[in-house]
Amino acid sequence: MSGPLILFLAGVMLAPAAGESGDVSCFHCHSKQVQEFTKSIHFNKNISCTDCHGGDVHMNGTAVSTGSMLANFTGVPARKGITQTCSKCHGEAAGTYRESIHWQELERGVAIAATCTDCHGAHNILPSTDANSSANPENVPLLCAGCHENKTKMSAWYYGIKTDRFDTYKRSYHYKALQSGGKGLATCTDCHENHNTRNETDPRSAIYQANLPDTCGKSGCHSSNSAQVYGGKVHEGQSVGLYFIDAKKLVTYFYIVMIVFELVFTLGLISLDISSKFEVKRRG
Ligand code: HEC
Ligand code: HEC
Ligand code: HEC
Ligand code: HEC
Ligand code: HEC
Ligand code: HEC
Repeated sequence: MSGPLILFLAGVMLAPAAGESGDVSCFHCHSKQVQEFTKSIHFNKNISCTDCHGGDVHMNGTAVSTGSMLANFTGVPARKGITQTCSKCHGEAAGTYRESIHWQELERGVAIAATCTDCHGAHNILPSTDANSSANPENVPLLCAGCHENKTKMSAWYYGIKTDRFDTYKRSYHYKALQSGGKGLATCTDCHENHNTRNETDPRSAIYQANLPDTCGKSGCHSSNSAQVYGGKVHEGQSVGLYFIDAKKLVTYFYIVMIVFELVFTLGLISLDISSKFEVKRRG
């Protein structure tokens, strides 16, 4: 057989494996990415390499050449450009993410702040319901820990960011119960949101003090006035400072004030009630 014929036959045989949209040209030279891609959720959804990289997928299978990487080829998206790549089809997720501290920091030039592909992967993206997805609830703590527990990563550009968030979470009831097979227990993203992650001091943050009852109360987890909600035992063992006052003490003070207030209020009501009965008797 002649060379071109072999190439032609190989092209025909390999073409279907490369993807529904016939990523023939990309397939021949990038088998690693293709292999990952064919196992991802994006495969067989009429999505091809060129949706994220540009270039021409419709090259003739026999004419394998880097020419396919010429037409509108955009190459590897820069970290700041990844949201744009994904937002073509995931406008909502990208919109919410662009409100987060991760995006704010990335835009500000903190290159390690999380973007879409850090949490979802690029070629191997799976739905979060898949046990192998990095965004699966079971895997989320390790996903976040990859950065938030990493001292070198977190201190390289900013001092003072705590790197014991995973450790302290591990000591919590939520994690222990999760480890022993419990379902529906809070992991990082249940309290911090997956895309709308914000700073503790941001009034729109799920972990802003005043929003904690809603955060802890969602999906019927904890009734909103439960003591646990204000207990601040999530990242236990850590000094949860609120300006110069220790937040745990603040919570205790808050409770004392509330209890005293309620006592006075109830006693007031009772005495009003009694006195009004006396009044009625006196008049009647
Ligand atoms: C004839 C072989 C060949 C074909 C066909 C081919 N590539 Fe490439 N590609 C290469 C080589 C060689 C490089 C440069 C070396 C490297 O970074 O792996 C490269 C690099 C890349 C890069 C990285 C560029 C960068 O800035 O670092 C991307 C992304 C890419 N190719 C995507 C594609 C896509 C998408 C297709 C199909 C439309 C395609 N390639 C088709 C050979 C090919
Ligand atoms: C959903 C978007 C998306 C699709 C589809 C996609 N890529 Fe990529 N690709 C990326 C991103 C983002 C990067 C940057 C690296 C990273 O974040 O892991 C990348 C990086 C690359 C690179 C540089 C080397 C590397 O792995 O980092 C090559 C080569 C490449 N892609 C080829 C392909 C080929 C071939 C296909 C089709 C089988 C494809 N890509 C499909 C998003 C995509
Ligand atoms: C800090 C990690 C993180 C970043 C950054 C992130 N995601 Fe997610 N994403 C998640 C997690 C975790 C889930 C699963 C949430 C769940 O199951 O409740 C998710 C869910 C999704 C889903 C499934 C549907 C949905 O909304 O629940 C899509 C689509 C998605 N993300 C796309 C994106 C895109 C696009 C970006 C970038 C613009 C991005 N994500 C950035 C962690 C992240
Ligand atoms: C060309 C359109 C397109 C692009 C670009 C694209 N996606 Fe998707 N994505 C889809 C489609 C279609 C699905 C399948 C939705 C379904 O089956 O419900 C999907 C599914 C997903 C899912 C799983 C959603 C779920 O239901 O759990 C995640 C996560 C995801 N994409 C992340 C990304 C990320 C991150 C990027 C950028 C690197 C990206 N996508 C780029 C079209 C796209
Ligand atoms: C790729 C690295 C990376 C990943 C993965 C990541 N983060 Fe972050 N995160 C950062 C960086 C960098 C900051 C910026 C810290 C700052 O500005 O204080 C940040 C900030 C935060 C903040 C605000 C903290 C503060 O002190 O301002 C929270 C909360 C947060 N991340 C939660 C999460 C959660 C939850 C996950 C997992 C779903 C996660 N992060 C995954 C890098 C990452
Ligand atoms: C049950 C809810 C809950 C879970 C689960 C949880 N957190 Fe938190 N997280 C909080 C609350 C509330 C705060 C603010 C009080 C504090 O600092 O402890 C916080 C604070 C933080 C901060 C600092 C935010 C800031 O603005 O200073 C980071 C970073 C963080 N958590 C990361 C994580 C990571 C990573 C995980 C998973 C390994 C996780 N959290 C699990 C509720 C939670």
